[in-house]
Amino acid sequence: MVRVLVTDGMEKSGIEELRAKGFEVVEKFYEPEELGAQLHNFDVLVVRSATKVRQPIIDKAMEAGRLKLVIRGGVGVDNIDVAYAMEKGIKVTNTPNASSASVAELAIGHMFAVTRFINIANVTMRQGKWDKKKYEGIELGGKTLGLVGFGRISKEVAKRAEALGMKVIYTDIIGKAEGFDQYEFCSFEDVLKRSDFVSLHIPLNKEKGAVIGKEEIAMMKDGAYIINCARGGVVCEGALLEALNSGKIAGAGIDVFAEEPTKNEALVNHPNVSVTPHIGASTAEAQTRIGAEIVSIITDFFKA
Ligand SMILES: NC(=O)c1ccc[n+]([C@@H]2O[C@H](COP(=O)([O-])OP(=O)(O)OC[C@H]3O[C@@H](n4cnc5c(N)ncnc54)[C@H](O)[C@@H]3O)[C@@H](O)[C@H]2O)c1
Repeated sequence: MVRVLVTDGMEKSGIEELRAKGFEVVEKFYEPEELGAQLHNFDVLVVRSATKVRQPIIDKAMEAGRLKLVIRGGVGVDNIDVAYAMEKGIKVTNTPNASSASVAELAIGHMFAVTRFINIANVTMRQGKWDKKKYEGIELGGKTLGLVGFGRISKEVAKRAEALGMKVIYTDIIGKAEGFDQYEFCSFEDVLKRSDFVSLHIPLNKEKGAVIGKEEIAMMKDGAYIINCARGGVVCEGALLEALNSGKIAGAGIDVFAEEPTKNEALVNHPNVSVTPHIGASTAEAQTRIGAEIVSIITDFFKA
């Protein structure tokens, strides 16, 4: 019988479907020092982001040679040593489409939160304050949204921003996207210079580091906003904090941090920042889609 280990949770309906199809599913989180040995008894490992599948775990698992497939329920596979696993004959895959709409909605949500002070008004009202005069915001309609990266999530953000009456411009290292002429493709520098909101939707390149640092912020409009629902480290937190303090950047919406959980209290507590604890994909709909995608990946993989 094919045995599946789910370490970071998975949608109930997906687990039930796998069991109905004859797979044996065990849901249990193991500490890194224990995980490798446990994997002697499993064909498939399903993780989200909490479980790190690093080289020593892969080596330990491969002593038994049973593990064949690792699935990351979600987009980024930075918690898995993908090349090393593949080298050892383990297939690594993810569920890239399932959460795009959810992340896009959160990015838009952060834009509303910072421009209308929804974040900070929640805090101050709970302290008994009525700071009505302080919270004159701006509308999103009529503003320019610059998207860095124009992949799955970014396209969903663009659609929603367009519906709000925003002008959408974008940049991507692979160039102009076919079939999206309603949005303007431009250089990274132009996105920085022309946007009222810059929203990032790219993976983290660990070697290159932050895409938005001091120099890039200097190129941006005074009073622009930065939204990061991509990966911590894509925006330099130090440079962002400095720009928020000087007023160069009017506000920021942040779902992802260089270190998670973050210890950057100055950034989290900044009045012009809207923060969430990496919940871009945390919706019922995304989790259901992720579960369904995992079921179909496993079923296809073990098809006779
Ligand atoms: N906040 C969350 O919970 C959450 C959830 C899912 C995904 N994400 C993150 O969102 C990001 C985007 O996901 P996606 O599904 O849209 O990915 P995608 O692969 O569909 O799109 C990424 C795009 O960025 C482009 N790109 C890469 N580096 C670039 C750069 N330096 N400048 C310009 N363009 C660049 C790529 O060419 C690609 O078109 C990923 O980093 C992912 O990890 C976050």
